Amino acid sequence: MKNKDLLIVIDMQNVYREGEAWGCCRAGEALRNIIKLLESGVFEDVVFTRFDAPADPEGSWKEYNRVNKAINEDQRLNEMMEELKPYAGRYPMFSKSTYSSFEIPELCNMAKKADHVVLTGVVAECCVLATAMSAIDKGFPVIYLSDAVSGLSPETEKEAEHVVSYLAPVQTEVMSTEEYIRRHAHLHSCGTGENVHPSDNTACGGAAEHNKNVNIAIDGPSGVGKSTTAKELARKLGFTYIDTGAMFRTLAVYFIRKGLDINDEESIVASLPECSVDISYEDGKQHMILNGEDVTGLIRTEEVSHAASVTSSYAGVRKKLLEMQRDMARSHDVIMDGRDIGTVVLPEAQLKLFISARPEVRAKRRYDQLRASGRLGDATLESILKDMEERDYRDSHRANAPLMKAEDAVLLDNSDMTEEEVLEAIISMLRDRKLID
Ligand code: DC
Repeated sequence: MKNKDLLIVIDMQNVYREGEAWGCCRAGEALRNIIKLLESGVFEDVVFTRFDAPADPEGSWKEYNRVNKAINEDQRLNEMMEELKPYAGRYPMFSKSTYSSFEIPELCNMAKKADHVVLTGVVAECCVLATAMSAIDKGFPVIYLSDAVSGLSPETEKEAEHVVSYLAPVQTEVMSTEEYIRRHAHLHSCGTGENVHPSDNTACGGAAEHNKNVNIAIDGPSGVGKSTTAKELARKLGFTYIDTGAMFRTLAVYFIRKGLDINDEESIVASLPECSVDISYEDGKQHMILNGEDVTGLIRTEEVSHAASVTSSYAGVRKKLLEMQRDMARSHDVIMDGRDIGTVVLPEAQLKLFISARPEVRAKRRYDQLRASGRLGDATLESILKDMEERDYRDSHRANAPLMKAEDAVLLDNSDMTEEEVLEAIISMLRDRKLID
């Protein structure tokens, strides 16, 4: 599976090193992250640009050349940073005499074929920002890797990032280098045995038997037993189980910790670029990683459930997780559960299930679970039923990707079925569709 994003490395010349004439405050860090991206093997398409003073300047560029004469004439300052030379030789390198790299027609043609343009380099406030703005104007979706971009000062660098993130989630995404690589590493890992995203029950082997990975979408309201069914099915079939609710819960932990008002969509969405969500698998169990910390043990509280239900209605929040969910399904045989998997995330899934159960049955199951684990607290059967109905209402009535049965989903009411019966029913559907032997 190829990553069809285009990595643009902007103007990594000596003059922008810390301490030089146009020194950027984090040029060294940006350089290290750019090298990490180039070494990660996630990109096939990479392009380098360099700034050359305009030869025949007009208007304000005339003044630019006058003020910067000494710099323009210093060959060493204008050279590409030594550390990048081995990479620069492998990819196209274009010179420009403007801030925006999209004044280069060849680069525009490359960007037209890409899913996203991924921006890195210097100077955040001029060349990178101008490139981002022209990419947006031209309709190229932008990914801005904040720690692989460096600006002249921490304050103005942050301002540039704010301008770009203002256009998120529709035209831009801002994220860290690590997050970008994590999201894409598995696209290259199937079959090599290296860096495979989910561990033990990874479905790389299964995928090889089909031209396309098998994707099973399971949607339904909370407490219906989707995850128990999906987990067990994944174990039996050797598929990867992806619990998308856990991803929304992980973001909710972040919002709560930050003390944000979960009803304030603007501040919730504005905080997203600072937070990265990753999934790792240990012994086949999904672990949720928030900014590098494993928060799996913190995501099942009532407070988090409520915050996840409220904030998952925001388009920006959903957009942040959508690509990650799709990427995983593209490269693995997956069973993914959530609310909008059959309708939005994986509309092409080969089998879609909508699992439901009577609300009283679901509330009783939840009540028994809480009691058995000693986490019942003050909750009663009635209060659990009430919370559940409120959450169902919110999940089904929101404008963005509401809980809904896809037209072609199979409806499975498990109120009066045992777990074993549910599994048997699904396995026989998979056999009928020739998706498993
Ligand atoms: O499945 P869960 O209870 O762990 O999900 C937590 C919240 O996240 C729930 O209120 C609905 C929301 N969610 C969603 O909006 N879309 C998904 N695909 C999964 C969960």
